Amino acid sequence: MAIGTSLSPVFPLGSRLNERGRLEVGGCDTIELAREFGTPAYIVAEDDLRTRARAFVRAGRDAGHDDFHVVFASKAFPCSAVLALFASEGLWCDAASGGELHLALQAGFRPERIVLHGNAKSHAELRMALRHRVGAIVIDNFDEIERLARLIGEGALADRADGQPVLVRVTPDVRGDTHEKISTGQADSKFGFAMAHAAEAIARVREVEGLSLQGVHAHIGSQLLELEPFRLEARELAKLGEGVGGFSIWDLGGGLGVQYTEEQPPAPSIEDYVGAIVGAAHANGIGPQTRLLIEPGRALCANACVTLYTVESVKQNVSRWVAVDGGMSDNLRPMLYGATYDAHVADRFGGASESVLAGKHCESGDVIVRKALLADPKPGDVIVTPATGAYGFAMANNYNGVPRPPVVFCRDGDARIVVRRETYEDLGSRDVL
Ligand code: LLP
Repeated sequence: MAIGTSLSPVFPLGSRLNERGRLEVGGCDTIELAREFGTPAYIVAEDDLRTRARAFVRAGRDAGHDDFHVVFASKAFPCSAVLALFASEGLWCDAASGGELHLALQAGFRPERIVLHGNAKSHAELRMALRHRVGAIVIDNFDEIERLARLIGEGALADRADGQPVLVRVTPDVRGDTHEKISTGQADSKFGFAMAHAAEAIARVREVEGLSLQGVHAHIGSQLLELEPFRLEARELAKLGEGVGGFSIWDLGGGLGVQYTEEQPPAPSIEDYVGAIVGAAHANGIGPQTRLLIEPGRALCANACVTLYTVESVKQNVSRWVAVDGGMSDNLRPMLYGATYDAHVADRFGGASESVLAGKHCESGDVIVRKALLADPKPGDVIVTPATGAYGFAMANNYNGVPRPPVVFCRDGDARIVVRRETYEDLGSRDVL
């Protein structure tokens, strides 16, 4: 890879190899970042997040839908600085629990721009959403309708004048080609109402005083790399509006996939994805006068971030094992979904021979990259894995008592900590002795 050239699209926008052959993210030298903040660390190019947020918003308008809103699925990167950045870009926020709702409010999202999800919302979570009168509660099941009815009867709704806006979540039986663990659109799903029950659910919601049915929601899956399932989803969803005069809000969920490795073909662009979904909505009678929501998570943040590690040991048996100071505690995705990543020595790109990039955890399956092409890796080297911004920080854990990494925002050569590294004291801070 030539020095100074732009890198593959799996890296944050604006990344480059500098004159010393070192990876730069957000104008910051990653070797210096590793020295200053330690490893492992999540390094985020702030401008990348902003650029993608703006591209989503613009694409909706360009596709001819003015009342189009981009709802960040906060589960992808539930960190206050990321949330605050997206709030400042005018995005909405998808919260899937009381905790995510709390973070979203704290980060500055106005309640009317928050959509509450969940297939097993508790009384407390529903009460919290009603108290803040969030933009929409997405109803998942019949029990939830009755639960909301009871809570509203007990006076849980802050503003009784217009009622609590709600959407009904359905599973349109559209399958995208993705890992079974992140496929949600099939009829036999733990999420939402089957299409056959949608009319009954909608009718029941309409009977409940204090609930204001605004429309429907679907989310067919995650890391989808083809656009056709999204078109089918819009077509199936539109059918629910027939005969009832349509709805004012249509929420088509998230799911746009990203490119994780140089080898993987590029994912559809934000513009093509939004164009396809808006086009299919319009073609099926979900007109430009309605409010259209989409809920991207991964596509807003995956490629904005790289993880830095330090090599602790290198050993050769059948394979060359390069062990680093993180692993399944900062990135569960390889273990959970067989997800693949690229890896490089941060100041020596372009290795040719294969290594196994292994984590430090007490499990054989704790492998970050099975076939990593690393240039002569040695203890002390800084390793970078790109495209770790989505569901890495989000699913981080303390297995083996490993403190969770910090998040560092980089912009124009300046770096700032937005989540500090966990300490050993933090590990025991909830323990009651
Ligand atoms: N909306 C709803 C209702 C969702 O359930 C999800 C993701 C999204 C939006 C955002 O989907 P995205 O645009 O990020 O694909 N931990 C897994 C992903 C689980 C996704 C769950 N729901 C992973 O690491 O791949």
